[in-house]
Amino acid sequence: HKKGFIFDLDGVIVDTAKFHFVAWQRLAKSIGIDFNHEQNEQLKGVSRVNSLKKILAWGNATLSEEEFNSKMAQKNEEYLALVDTLTTDDILPGVHDFLLELREMGQPIALGSASKNARPILKKLGISDLFDTIVDGTNVTKAKPDPEVFTTAADQLGVAHKYCVVFEDSIAGVQAANAAGMISIGLGEQDVLHEADSVYSSFTEMPENYITELLMKKKK
Ligand code: G6P
Ligand code: MG
Repeated sequence: HKKGFIFDLDGVIVDTAKFHFVAWQRLAKSIGIDFNHEQNEQLKGVSRVNSLKKILAWGNATLSEEEFNSKMAQKNEEYLALVDTLTTDDILPGVHDFLLELREMGQPIALGSASKNARPILKKLGISDLFDTIVDGTNVTKAKPDPEVFTTAADQLGVAHKYCVVFEDSIAGVQAANAAGMISIGLGEQDVLHEADSVYSSFTEMPENYITELLMKKKK
């Protein structure tokens, strides 16, 4: 039986979550706002526009539309400068093998990311061809925790939503997967991702034959 395997990008496939953090923190500082790691968890998986809105709300700050757009552009420029340093070594441990195993088993694979930079990043890592379909921030109108990115990916794979498994490192992404009625696998800390059906610190911590286990798993 086939399932749809849907992967988030930032923080699941590649270690770019740290770059987003650095770039947002620099931007926040430039307008006199400080935010901590815990608040950063609330930015993970969240679209660029909504992230800036959240940061401004934390700092009780407002920007004109023009300033808002220029800050977003500045953040992206700094982020892309950091992304430029990425190599295949930045693919997170165990992910590449996991993807290859899924492919060997003939299981449908999708990317489901909020990022508008997803395609160039996958290309840089040399793993674009491992995905049957890519749904990213340029393809959807409703951002996570809305399930649109995952339901679109599932529909493109032609797999029923309840037979999809989503890998996520963010609270918003886990909520989106759950809202879609999909099995949610958290990558990160149990405390943070407690809404997920299962949580692992990394792909290397998953049990042996985990894919076979997932193929039999039902959404709770
Ligand atoms: C991912 C990241 C977020 C980021 C969002 C938009 O979900 O986890 O931190 O804000 O994508 O990314 P973008 O590359 O379009 O700014
Ligand atoms: Mg993520």
